[in-house]
Amino acid sequence: MHCTRKITDRLYYVGGDDRRLSLFENIHPVPFGISYNSYLLLGDKTILFDAVDWSYCRNFLDNIEHLLNGRKLDYIVVNHIEPDHGASMEEVLLRYPDIKIIATERAFLFMRQFGFHIDGHEQLAVKNDDVIDLGSHRLKFITASMVHWPEVMCTIELETGAIFTSDAFGSFKSLDGRIFNDEVDYEREFLDEARRYYFNIVGKYGVQVAALLKKVEEYRDNIKLICPLHGLVWRSNLDYILKIYDKWSRYESEQKGAAVVYASMYGNTENAAFYLASSLCEKNMSNVRLFDVSKTDMSLIIAECCKLSHIVLACCTYNFAIYPPMESLLHHFKGIGLKNKTFAVIENGTWAIKSGDLIEKYISEEIKNNKIIEGRVTVTSSPDENRLRELEALSERIVLSINEK
Ligand code: FEO
Repeated sequence: MHCTRKITDRLYYVGGDDRRLSLFENIHPVPFGISYNSYLLLGDKTILFDAVDWSYCRNFLDNIEHLLNGRKLDYIVVNHIEPDHGASMEEVLLRYPDIKIIATERAFLFMRQFGFHIDGHEQLAVKNDDVIDLGSHRLKFITASMVHWPEVMCTIELETGAIFTSDAFGSFKSLDGRIFNDEVDYEREFLDEARRYYFNIVGKYGVQVAALLKKVEEYRDNIKLICPLHGLVWRSNLDYILKIYDKWSRYESEQKGAAVVYASMYGNTENAAFYLASSLCEKNMSNVRLFDVSKTDMSLIIAECCKLSHIVLACCTYNFAIYPPMESLLHHFKGIGLKNKTFAVIENGTWAIKSGDLIEKYISEEIKNNKIIEGRVTVTSSPDENRLRELEALSERIVLSINEK
């Protein structure tokens, strides 16, 4: 069955949603689904921009066939070859044997590594700033290496002003029939999932994203549409999403507030974390989120930690070390290159309490460019009156620090 959306007179959306997938990249939950976007341009030449995940292949092929209406498919531009897009490109090649492939040299290498049978098709390897004139449409290529794979590029279609941005500006969440940013309440429906997508998938490459934004800025006057490989097509208010991406790429917090993340075996560390969160609210700092690191998915905790200015880690000691799910969160912080945050630490243990020292050491030595508020609280088994007073005092220092930011 075909199901497409018109973007301009000649440009169409031919991708679709996956609402059955549980884990994107087999690690990140996608309870609200995800879209795999692909775009078809019908000009003097017919040009497909990227393919889709295998799960949507059948409908994708129907969409292309329907819109071509008997024409042949002349080109496929592969901006990003990761299998959530590249998996079905070989089916496109099989159906349209005369199709020419446009991609970076590295992308052709990766196609071969994935075992795609591309030989026999004309291969046009493009570099940064190359332009290909295809009659009614000219394509300009901007390499965007490490956003978030090395072969990635973006393509600007100079006549419609559409930029095909690979995973940049993407989002988790299915589109459900809407494809444009102005068809949804973005902040209510998409912002959280876009942030979770960015920091867990692309965020490690903030420097490269910033470089891409700089390049995009050079062509800003020509760009009318942002067409990512997941999520919404931006056809209005482009400055809004560009500004958000600029902030994210610099790891600038969006809001003053605190993510309080606790690791608790029997509820005592949880109680300390809850007391601290309540103390913050009592002092009019109510932009607080409390997470159980053993229960809440890491991708969600990471997104909230990136959004808020302060992070409180409350952790019990386990085998003379950091409780494993908290240790895993710290590794993820390092992995995504988290910075510009202010941490506070609460530790707990009945004997040989080690978690606080180890957490502070890890933050200082492994996750660079963050601060730690002095005077961590040490709970010995459960928070007594003295510890509650110390938690009060810590909450005062956190509020002071938040208000200084
Ligand atoms: Fe959506 Fe990097 O693939």
